Amino acid sequence: MKYRHLVAFLSEEECELIEGISWNEGFSDLYFEKLVDSGNALHVFLEEGEELPVFLKGIEFSDLGFSEQKDWFEKWKESLIPFEICDGIEVIPLEEEEKIIDSNKIGIIPGMAFGTGLHESTKLAASLLSELIQRGSKVLDVGCGTGILSVIAAKRGASSVLALDVDQHSIEKTVEIGRINHVSIETRLSDFLSALKPEERFDIIVSNMIVELLKQFVLDLRGFLLRDGRVILSGIYKDKYQELKSLVEKDFLIERIKEDGDWKAVVLRRK
Ligand SMILES: C[S@@+](CC[C@H](N)C(=O)[O-])C[C@H]1O[C@@H](n2cnc3c(N)ncnc32)[C@H](O)[C@@H]1O
Repeated sequence: MKYRHLVAFLSEEECELIEGISWNEGFSDLYFEKLVDSGNALHVFLEEGEELPVFLKGIEFSDLGFSEQKDWFEKWKESLIPFEICDGIEVIPLEEEEKIIDSNKIGIIPGMAFGTGLHESTKLAASLLSELIQRGSKVLDVGCGTGILSVIAAKRGASSVLALDVDQHSIEKTVEIGRINHVSIETRLSDFLSALKPEERFDIIVSNMIVELLKQFVLDLRGFLLRDGRVILSGIYKDKYQELKSLVEKDFLIERIKEDGDWKAVVLRRK
């Protein structure tokens, strides 16, 4: 498929703002490139006939014409370097599949789905998950994206990990990341919790999605938690926290709140 390639030069602050909004809006066909001298380039890719999303309309872009998807994938991959996602766990972006056995390293082939771990909300979810998990925990990851949280759960000793996503591409990425990292993850295509069996129960349920989506299923999680189970919710933009809090506090105790920049994550326990 051919994509129209647009580029704009922006400050660090502008890039951060756009990263947050694009994530909220579910628009992922962009990447940021750090320039050697100073500043950042924002690269945006539009399919033939696709309109620029409204939140990018005020920006002055240069049109670099049409490019093959693989050209910008290569550039995006070049801009990804290994980074620590949470205490002691490093994410290694890979060009192609190879086995990563080390339990403190996560190999990933960056793709178009969210979940490369660069977003604050993924890091928040990852660090809470890695703190709470115990050897033998049964873990559910709702909205698994590339499966990065599922891999952390498996590498930190979960006895079972079930990953759900509504997007087939995300399911495929999660199967791939499981293979790369030599861990076992069960995947199911699922609209929120629809693919769960009524009798299934978990020690930890993690979900990193915008509040508008979390609100649609968070109360239903009560029925899938084991005694003493915990729910980790991330993807909570600071302005939306009260909305989520009001919804959950009748049924859940908010045990922990963790923040990174404009984003929050919470740990819930059933009352
Ligand atoms: C922000 S991404 C999080 C990905 C990954 N868990 C992470 O933390 O990086 C949200 C994910 O939720 C999925 N999602 C959105 N709506 C959903 C729904 N109705 N049911 C299941 N998954 C959904 C998206 O496809 C996407 O992969």
